[in-house]
Amino acid sequence: MSVLVIEGSQWGDEGKGKITDYLGQNADVVVRSQGGNNAGHTITINGEKFALRSIPSGIFNPKIKNVMANGMVIDPKQMLEELDGLISRGVKEFKLYISNRAHIVLPYHKDLDGAYEDLKGSLKIGTTKRGIGPCYADKVNRIGIRMGDFINPESFKKHLTDALAIKNKELSMLGLKTYTVDELFNEYSKYAKRIKPYVCDTAELLENEIEKNSKILFEGAQGAMLCIDHGTYPYVTSSSPIGASVPLNAGIAPKYITDVLGICKSYDTRVGEGPFPTEIDGEIGNYIREKGHEYGTVTKRPRRVGWLDCVALNYARRVSGINHLSLMLFDVLGGLKEIKICYAYELDGEVTTSFPSTLDELSRVKPMYITMPGFDEDISNIKDFDSLPVNAKEYIKKIEELTKIKVSMISVGPDRNQTIILEKLL
Ligand code: IMP
Repeated sequence: MSVLVIEGSQWGDEGKGKITDYLGQNADVVVRSQGGNNAGHTITINGEKFALRSIPSGIFNPKIKNVMANGMVIDPKQMLEELDGLISRGVKEFKLYISNRAHIVLPYHKDLDGAYEDLKGSLKIGTTKRGIGPCYADKVNRIGIRMGDFINPESFKKHLTDALAIKNKELSMLGLKTYTVDELFNEYSKYAKRIKPYVCDTAELLENEIEKNSKILFEGAQGAMLCIDHGTYPYVTSSSPIGASVPLNAGIAPKYITDVLGICKSYDTRVGEGPFPTEIDGEIGNYIREKGHEYGTVTKRPRRVGWLDCVALNYARRVSGINHLSLMLFDVLGGLKEIKICYAYELDGEVTTSFPSTLDELSRVKPMYITMPGFDEDISNIKDFDSLPVNAKEYIKKIEELTKIKVSMISVGPDRNQTIILEKLL
C-alpha cells in the first residue's frame, strides 16, 4: 500500500503542481483535501502550461480518480469554469469525485473577504480574496452549506434561507450589498445540477481504494507556514495544509499514510503580508525573482524572496511528519557567487533553533547564516545527483544535515524530465 502526502513545506508556491504531476503518473487516485481556489498549481505538459486552482492535478490522466475531499471549500461557479476551461483545451475524459461534506463558497464569502481585509487596514493578511476565510468561518460557525445539501434543491433553498438571514445582517452592517434567496438560488442551483453527478462520499471511496492497495497521492495546497494552527498566525490561510491534517480532511485513518513528501524551494518565497525572517531585498532578491518567475499564479503579485530557512523547515518537519524532501527550482540558484542558508535565529541575544510562536518574536529574530560557494554551471539538463557540480551537492547535503530530512527528489527545470530522482516514492 502506498499513500503518499505531498505537502508544501514553506509558504506555498513551492512547485507542488510539478511533483504531483510527476508522481501522479504512477498514482491511481489524486486527492485535494483542503483549501479551495486560493491555490494555483501550474503544470507543464508537453510544453503546454495549465493552471489549476481547485481541481486535482490527476485530471489530465483519464485513468486517475481525482478526489476533492471534505476538507475543501469549493466555489461551484469557479470550479465549473475551471473544468470547462480544461474541457475546451482537450481534457475530455476524466474521473472526478467531490465530497458530499465539502463546503461551498458563495458570493457573500468573497464580498466579506474583501471587506474584512479593508477593515483590517495595516493588519490585513493579503488574502487571495477568494472567500476562503469567510467560508471556513461559516463552517466553524455552523452556518455553512455542504455539497450534499447544495445538490438537493429543497435542501439548498432551506440552508440558503437560514444562512442569508444571518449573512445579510453581517453584509449590511459592513455597508455591503445584500442578497435575496431567489437570486442566489436561481443562479447557483444551475451549478448544483451540473456538479451533482460528481458528488459522493469520497471518504468511503478512499477506503475502498486503500483496501484495493491503490496508489494514492494527496496533493498539497498552500504550505506548512500558512497552516491555521502551526503557521505564522494570523498571516496564514484558514485551513491546515500539513500532512498531519490529511486524515481529518479526507476521512481516512492516520495509520494509512506511508510517507510525507515536503516540497521545498531551494530558497524561500512568500506572498502576502507577515514576517519573513530570511527575506532578501535588492539585486540578489530581484535575480532570484526574475530567474524563478516568482509571481503569483492566482493573483500575479510579485513574491517576496528569501534564503532557505532551515529553522522554519525543521519546524515544518516536526509538526507535519515530513520524511522526504523534494528540492525545487534548484537551477535558479545557478549563477550566484554565494548561497546563504539559515541554520538558527538570534533572538534577544540568544541563539535558538526553535521557531517562535508570536509575530512579535518572529519579527525580531535575526537569521544566522552559513555562506556556501555558489555554482555557475547550467544544471537544467542534469539527470543524476553525481553529475551535479560539487558546490551544488554540498548545498544539498547541508540541507539534509540541518533539517534531518532526506532529499529524495531535485527539480532542475519546469518539465517532467528535468527531475533528479534519488528515491522512488510512488
Ligand atoms: P487566503 O487563503 O486567501 O485566505 O489567504 C491567506 C494567506 O495565505 C495570504 O497570505 C495568501 O497569499 C496565502 N495563500 C493562500 N493560498 C496560497 C497558495 O496557494 N500559495 C501561496 N500563498 C497562499
